[in-house]
Amino acid sequence: MKERISTLLKREPSSEVVTAEGWVRTKRESKHVCFLEVNDGSSLKGLQVVIDKERLGDQALLDSITTGSSIIAAGTIVSSQGASQAVELASSNLTLVGSCPVDTYPLQKKRHSLEYLREIAHLRARTNTFGAVTRVRNVLSWAIHQYFQERGFIWVHTPLISASDAEGAGQMFQVTTLDLANVPKTAEGAVNWDEDFFGRQSFLTVSGQLEGETYAMAMKNIYTFGPTFRAENSNTTRHLSEFWMVEPEMAFCTLDGNMAVAEEFLKHLFKAVLEHSGEDMEFFSNFVEAGMRETLAKIIETPFVHLTYTDAVKELEKHNDRFSYPVKWGIDLQSEHEKFITEVIAKSPTIVTDYPKDIKAFYMKLNDDEKTVRGMDVLVPRLGEIIGGSEREADYDTLIARMAEMKLDPADYWWYLDLRRYGSVPHSGFGLGFERLVQYVTGMGNIRDVIPYPRAPRLADF
Ligand code: 4AD
Ligand code: MG
Repeated sequence: MKERISTLLKREPSSEVVTAEGWVRTKRESKHVCFLEVNDGSSLKGLQVVIDKERLGDQALLDSITTGSSIIAAGTIVSSQGASQAVELASSNLTLVGSCPVDTYPLQKKRHSLEYLREIAHLRARTNTFGAVTRVRNVLSWAIHQYFQERGFIWVHTPLISASDAEGAGQMFQVTTLDLANVPKTAEGAVNWDEDFFGRQSFLTVSGQLEGETYAMAMKNIYTFGPTFRAENSNTTRHLSEFWMVEPEMAFCTLDGNMAVAEEFLKHLFKAVLEHSGEDMEFFSNFVEAGMRETLAKIIETPFVHLTYTDAVKELEKHNDRFSYPVKWGIDLQSEHEKFITEVIAKSPTIVTDYPKDIKAFYMKLNDDEKTVRGMDVLVPRLGEIIGGSEREADYDTLIARMAEMKLDPADYWWYLDLRRYGSVPHSGFGLGFERLVQYVTGMGNIRDVIPYPRAPRLADF
């Protein structure tokens, strides 16, 4: 395989001929020399290609190479006179592969706004910021698998098309092949789902948890890592309609074990980016979120703060004059409250537990007080909720009663209920929003800038 530019940059000067392929970011020319900065996405830094014009003897070729062109340059690695790189490529063998017209190319040398780059999402990976985001996303994906694989968790592939609402929140996108201009009806005038593709109503999944639980009841420790979909009308900087979620599920595990794994897992991921994305994290730390590297390094060393929902509410109520949505026991915490907990009260990532049952999903284990459930949210500064999870209700009768309270039909969840009939055990799990993780470690302000093609209300371009 040919070497990537990141590898060429680590080479010592030598007489061996090597080849670099990539896209030109900048071109500078003097009377005798032409400098091209070439990037192939493998590192933030590009390779400086230095061309002796006389040896090349083809000014027309140089003139045709512009910002955005793709080129192949062969030559030798030499030590660089410039201050910003140790080595460069001295080349007199240059091929223009694809030209790039200067007048229409949407990426100019100047700094573009993130809003503008969202409109040209098909080209934004060619910028420093989006190249770095893409590499950090890759390192985090790899570190997720590494964490679980090293600990004997089995990766399970749960379906994306599903008939059941895993969160019971009614935020699902429907999947249908029915002709919407001519919907088949039953004799009673209702939609005749029998004529739809699956012979029933079906949706894009909001979470792989329920199917994940069925596998945890056989394989003990499993995880899922895949796309999930939510038709919630949230136009915020931390919500997407399509996002990736990591969902471990552990049998023979209570909430305490769940919290311990969530904390160790997040710290593993923070360590991984510091170790494997050094250059990119330096970039984010310097240009996006000041001191992010140091912040992560400190978090790795410090135990997360634990707080029950009831205690968190007591603390928050003291500051109700500062919130646009005042706090009282029973409300769902808003992002302003979550940020206040982590930035002002705890000054640390915080695990909030034991939420009121009415604001959490039907599957969370009911506490003895019968008012709260064994749910947990991991909150981080600047962002709020990054993980949501719980110990699951493992008792058949209690689960049936909870479903009735939440107006869910047990018939729709018959297979899920079976797990409570056949060898039920205490079990727990959580979901990490992958884009929230990427957003947190990079310091990027808008979640739409940490996924290649964001989907949000009224946004499904590309
Ligand atoms: O808290 P949520 O809704 O929990 C679940 O889906 C559970 N089934 C997880 C489990 O216990 N296995 O979602 C989990 C995480 C949130 O903490 C958040 O990080 C992320 O998924 N998330 C979103 N990320 C981006 N856009 C959205 N619309 C999101 N909704 C949730
Ligand atoms: Mg949640």
